[in-house]
Amino acid sequence: MPAFLAPRLSRRTLLRAGGTVLAAAAVAGGRSLAAASTDLVEVELLAKPRLQRILPEPAAPSPLITYAERFPGPVIRLRKGQRLRATLVNGLDEHTSIHWHGIRLPNAEDGVPFLTQAVTRPGERHTYEFTPPDSGSFFFHPHCNTVELLGRGLAGALIVEEEGGPKFDADLVCMVKDWILDKATGAFGEFTSDRGASRAGTFGTVSTVNGEIDPVIDVPANGDVRARLYNVDSSRVIDLRVEGTENGGGAWIIAVDGNPLPPRPLDGWPMAPAMRLDVVFRAPKEAGKTLRLTNVYSAEPKPLATFRATGPALPNKRFAPRALPAADIPEPDLKTAQVVPMAFSAAAAPQVFDSALLTTLPEADARCLAAKTFWAINQQSWPEGGHERLPPPLVTLDKGRSYVFELANLTPHLHPIHIHGYTFKVLSSDGRKVVPHHADTVLLEPKERLRVAIKADNPGDWMFHCHIIEHQDTGMMGYIRVA
Ligand code: C2O
Ligand code: CU
Repeated sequence: MPAFLAPRLSRRTLLRAGGTVLAAAAVAGGRSLAAASTDLVEVELLAKPRLQRILPEPAAPSPLITYAERFPGPVIRLRKGQRLRATLVNGLDEHTSIHWHGIRLPNAEDGVPFLTQAVTRPGERHTYEFTPPDSGSFFFHPHCNTVELLGRGLAGALIVEEEGGPKFDADLVCMVKDWILDKATGAFGEFTSDRGASRAGTFGTVSTVNGEIDPVIDVPANGDVRARLYNVDSSRVIDLRVEGTENGGGAWIIAVDGNPLPPRPLDGWPMAPAMRLDVVFRAPKEAGKTLRLTNVYSAEPKPLATFRATGPALPNKRFAPRALPAADIPEPDLKTAQVVPMAFSAAAAPQVFDSALLTTLPEADARCLAAKTFWAINQQSWPEGGHERLPPPLVTLDKGRSYVFELANLTPHLHPIHIHGYTFKVLSSDGRKVVPHHADTVLLEPKERLRVAIKADNPGDWMFHCHIIEHQDTGMMGYIRVA
């Protein structure tokens, strides 16, 4: 079987395979885990340190922390309507949790320590169970000490396959991530610094796709390839292209953060940390011919991966990207919507927790608390004095009403703003023309004001934060309450 075809495992197989093995199989068996026509998919995610080679010899394999045998793993695939039961097993020497990024799920399954659940301590297990209401390309990651844990690779993909819609000849996950590694030894460097945290973030030294430097990814010759592009880096903004297509048109975007939009060329859609784009492109006709996945965000375009055509060419057909079936996200009523200002700024008086305070805090809390505060939302900096006494919500919304958030970036830096449990309808900007779309993470440009809307139908306390992890960890985080 060609490597790009996902293995189809029956539910029976899944159960017999047993917990940990599952996660491993998900990666080893072609980076994909799919269930047959049953309604419940069970996975076990053992978070623990694992060595993985990122750099060529003589560097040593790097000490990653992952949910499966290899980063990026596992890739959990559900069909729309299937229920996921995922058990986190904490094999770390610190507490953790899993946040399901982009999923409109019940608040108790959202995975935010102190806010929606108790921390999962070393050796403990925690089971999450929910049925994702939307199809799309999602992911999951911890929500404390994220700068180190995500920095070491603790993230996996959750894919919810749509019903109907266009067919593709291959369906790939491409997770773009830089690693902060010493190139000679393979050891990790410092995940954060005051300089990085107070500016654009700390950048990695080694760029990868799926944990490999410039990998060659096989695609079926003359086939239509769906690539789910993820930016799972903690700091870097990227702008991807697929170069060298025979029709010259490159790739076409068909979904943003999993949400379908009318197909448009992949030609200037910057992806900040946590953002995803589903794209489709036509593979070369002749086996052995290649395309390049390139990041053109910086002055010097950087090749990230190579797509290589393999196998006998698939029959000729016209390349015509088609829209995915429309999502069913509750439509905000813009006529009655209330406007909620959200101002993203530097902290008025950067707070420094002295080490005395940090050591008197419960150990669990100290793990989630950065030593310094550089940022604020509406002049509040998360979490102020510690998680024992959570700050009040940024705003309390009435369940069922519609709201427009006016996101104002008062800083000279980029901030990708993410909401938990909801999908924004992106409306307009005072600084650029906005393509109407849905997203769970929106990139705020320096000094920009961007308007996004939700219908507040999902009750609970929902995190609202910047997804540049060092900004999130040093104050640019808060929560909204829907009651
Ligand atoms: Cu991926 Cu609170 O975020
Ligand atoms: Cu930010």
